[in-house]
Amino acid sequence: MNMPNDQSIQQPPSDSNLNLPTASPCASALGAIVQEFLPNLTTYSEFYRQVHRNPELSSLEAETAALVARHLLALDFKVHTQIGGHGVVGILKNGPGKTILTRAELDALPIREQTDLAYKSSKTMTDRYGNERPVMHACGHDMNMAALLAASALLHAARERWSGTLITLFQPDEEETGGARAMLNDGLYSKIPVPDVLLAQHVIPLAPPGKAAVQPGPVLVAADAINVRVTGGPCKGSLNPQICVDSIQLSTQILTHLPAYVRDTIASGEDATVACWGFHAGIPGIDYPAHADFLLDVKTRKEDVRQAALKLIEKKIRDECRAANAPKEPEFKYSVRAPLTSNDKDTTERVQAAFEAFFGAGAVPVPRNSACEDFPLLAGERDVPYTYWFFGGCQAAEGGEVPTNHSPFFAPEIETALKAGTEAMALAVLAFVGK
Ligand SMILES: *[C@@H]1O[C@H](CO)[C@@H](O)[C@H](O)[C@H]1NC(C)=O
Ligand SMILES: [Zn+2]
Repeated sequence: MNMPNDQSIQQPPSDSNLNLPTASPCASALGAIVQEFLPNLTTYSEFYRQVHRNPELSSLEAETAALVARHLLALDFKVHTQIGGHGVVGILKNGPGKTILTRAELDALPIREQTDLAYKSSKTMTDRYGNERPVMHACGHDMNMAALLAASALLHAARERWSGTLITLFQPDEEETGGARAMLNDGLYSKIPVPDVLLAQHVIPLAPPGKAAVQPGPVLVAADAINVRVTGGPCKGSLNPQICVDSIQLSTQILTHLPAYVRDTIASGEDATVACWGFHAGIPGIDYPAHADFLLDVKTRKEDVRQAALKLIEKKIRDECRAANAPKEPEFKYSVRAPLTSNDKDTTERVQAAFEAFFGAGAVPVPRNSACEDFPLLAGERDVPYTYWFFGGCQAAEGGEVPTNHSPFFAPEIETALKAGTEAMALAVLAFVGK
């Protein structure tokens, strides 16, 4: 999950008592399987500590992938490796029925860990661009992996109680949202069965500790990137290069006003945020910069708002360049960083019923956030329905602040989070393949 760094920090609800299952007998029967077959989680908390201590940056997840593959082989899964980079997929065929694909992420972030945990990372590595970087599992992908492996062990042990095919997919390069597409482009669905349902979960401090939060519809934002080039230089009709449009000044003026302009122009109550994520202009020795390049990040929560925001941004920049007499129209290159993550209604209601029966009041709505994901791309061209949810396991520090994902202080409580993530993932799978 890819987080903005301006995320506000809230304290999760403090009540973490598990309510007894009360909903439909079917949904609570699933809970009984989970309780009966929950594995000894020590193996998976050790896996967590080991991976936390030895994180790997996006697209460089070789050791993590090998460790995950070893765990899956020990559970009798058929294992594929090196799909779309270091992608690992395990398959457990267990009779006729639905095929359920579950997904976790392999990669960590270029962040220097500032916790004082015994298993903290003090590692650095050279990233794919050639820069030496600190590395930390600051998003909790180590926890997502540990929970998926533990749920796999649970479902393997409980295989007499369900029928179908379980696929566990460990995706590389999630933080830069390239891995899902890389796995597809590497022929993922020619190597493994096409699933009927996709499931993924993420540990997040905003979800109540020990519980899961899910809902139908949008749960994570869409993120678009726009590369803009604003051209300056000598004005039309002038032979004198000193009489020119300053592309740096023009661009900074645009950037100063654009975020508020978009926010205020898009209908109130809708989310459309614009941020500048990069700026480059000027060459040493040349006194007027021919052009300025900047990178915009645009986050939205609805397709029509997204279209409106992108149009508005382009029009505003064109208008500003014309008003400043720029000698050339600005240029725009669009790319989708992450699609909207919007949960399928029927699929998600089924997961929600299983969570409510098991976690009781813990099956809460998804906290509003501005993170994004490339998970929906795994549906490929096939429109496979999916559900993505959060699980909690982070207690507030003194003063009520919870270090959020991508914080150098990010530190889930291992036992609480691991148990919740294992239970939630196993429940969600059983909701589709349980007997
Ligand atoms: C789980 O496994 C660990 C390590 O093998 C062991 O020390 C512990 O007693 C086990 N816990 C339970 C509840 O069996
Ligand atoms: Zn993440």
